Amino acid sequence: MNLIKNLTILFLAGLFLGNCEKKSPAPQFFPDMYNSPAREAQELDVTSPDGMGSRVPPEGTIPVEYEPYENDGLTLFDIKGREAKMPSSIKMTRETYERGEDRYQVFCFPCHGARGEGNGTVVSPSQKFPYNPNMNLHTGMAKTMNDGEIFHVISRGNGQMPSYGSQIDPEDRWKIILYVRKLQAYYDKMAQSKEGAK
Ligand code: HEC
Repeated sequence: MNLIKNLTILFLAGLFLGNCEKKSPAPQFFPDMYNSPAREAQELDVTSPDGMGSRVPPEGTIPVEYEPYENDGLTLFDIKGREAKMPSSIKMTRETYERGEDRYQVFCFPCHGARGEGNGTVVSPSQKFPYNPNMNLHTGMAKTMNDGEIFHVISRGNGQMPSYGSQIDPEDRWKIILYVRKLQAYYDKMAQSKEGAK
């Protein structure tokens, strides 16, 4: 019994090691799909209208995992009343808070600062990015904006703020918004307690 086992191991090891020296391509047992007729990106394709291997996708093609945004091409002003709504599946749980905080600190912190005061590392003290009063998420425009409007600004940018639509997926954008609301609430509380101390 042991002999058979040892011989089997030797045989299998031989099969693997036999392939180590790459003098010829590995044997193809079922080569049906190995040799794909697909064109390489820069290859000539005589069947294509302009001879190019890579063709322009048909109109309306949506890349895999890309979620189209209904208010594409519109400004913040245009979307008033037709803002995207926060999906009901996104609830303020501990997990949501932590994800929102994490994404905020990655994407928003450099400009808006750790607590949304507009004093991020590229603004102050390096001053590489000019300060704009709306960068303060507590006292600027963000304070009076609804969730859908903030979603639009993250998705497509506004004024001097660049778009983060290609870097942050929609679910994370909503979680960031919930986190920003927490920052605003915290700021309000701090401001009130300062008032009270006077
Ligand atoms: C490269 C710097 C930069 C980054 C990063 C950045 N912002 Fe902004 N943000 C700005 C500037 C500048 C403004 C002021 C734009 C204006 O009003 O012209 C602004 C404004 C805003 C406003 C107010 C709306 C407005 O148009 O003034 C909100 C809300 C906002 N940002 C949210 C975010 C969130 C959330 C993130 C992270 C996903 C983020 N920003 C990342 C620079 C940035």
